[in-house]
Amino acid sequence: MSVVVFGSINLDIVVEVPRLPIKGETIVGNRFFSAAGGKAANQAVAIAKLGVPVSLVGQIGEDSFGQTLIQSLQTAGVNTSGITVNSSTYSGIASIVVDEMGANTIACAAGANNLVREKELEQFELLLPQAKIALLELGIPIATVLNAARLAKAHDCFLILDPAPVISNFPEELYGLVDLMTPNEIEASQLVGFTVDGVTTARQAASFLHQMGVKNVVITLGSQGALYSNPTENFWVKPIPVSVVDTVAAGDAFNGALTAGLASGKSLTEALSWGAVGGALAVTKSGAQASLATKDCFHQMLKQQLLSQ
Ligand code: RIB
Repeated sequence: MSVVVFGSINLDIVVEVPRLPIKGETIVGNRFFSAAGGKAANQAVAIAKLGVPVSLVGQIGEDSFGQTLIQSLQTAGVNTSGITVNSSTYSGIASIVVDEMGANTIACAAGANNLVREKELEQFELLLPQAKIALLELGIPIATVLNAARLAKAHDCFLILDPAPVISNFPEELYGLVDLMTPNEIEASQLVGFTVDGVTTARQAASFLHQMGVKNVVITLGSQGALYSNPTENFWVKPIPVSVVDTVAAGDAFNGALTAGLASGKSLTEALSWGAVGGALAVTKSGAQASLATKDCFHQMLKQQLLSQ
């Protein structure tokens, strides 16, 4: 079963520092690197690396960064036929600072991601008949996300939305179109208007999201694991203890592996274990796409997890 991912593609400029700078402060880092990133691109790579056929729809600028980004996607096995190139703008850039504990802050210059509109929606619609699952995120204009969600549902796809990065103008109609929403605690807090910082508040947030029309919710809670909820039941997904190097793309890895599990015919409960393993492995390495699990490594940890349950 194939998947279409629609959203942002970035070149990540990463500086590793002893601690994150505060407002107005300059911190001198120890290491710099640039690498392929962008939430949707990372998710598509995570899915492809697990052997599931996946296409990515989005936009890049006509620059050398764009070429690097396409190359990284194709090397991972992502179908890039739905990516358009815009000569009047630059490819998306993410400026990322990572501290010694693996925590990060990210500021993006959206570039081409901000211009994702009708052309890309046409590409998305062309790919939908072969797909059973569509995965969206919010690194492109929200009007485009809403139209993509309508199209995905019109084509009977199972629609997953990672509501990241957080936005203030989340359209009400979108809640009812989503089959599975996967916010982290910060995104969930923003959506529901109160602080989500553990399983209890995550349950309250999920219940709010169900009232808004979302069918299934997974709220990821970092080192506290995740909460799964539907209108009739909810359960906690245990965290997998690992040594954290860099949390960049952990959410993308979770979403990608969860989607790959569903596309491989696993139940939602089993696919949640896939998500947890994908997220856990991603934080053990630096970078976004470079940190995403290979199939062998992934299945080895998944097997260990299933044996320990
Ligand atoms: O989720 C991680 C991604 O967010 C990075 O790769 C960066 O591009 C930002 O969009």
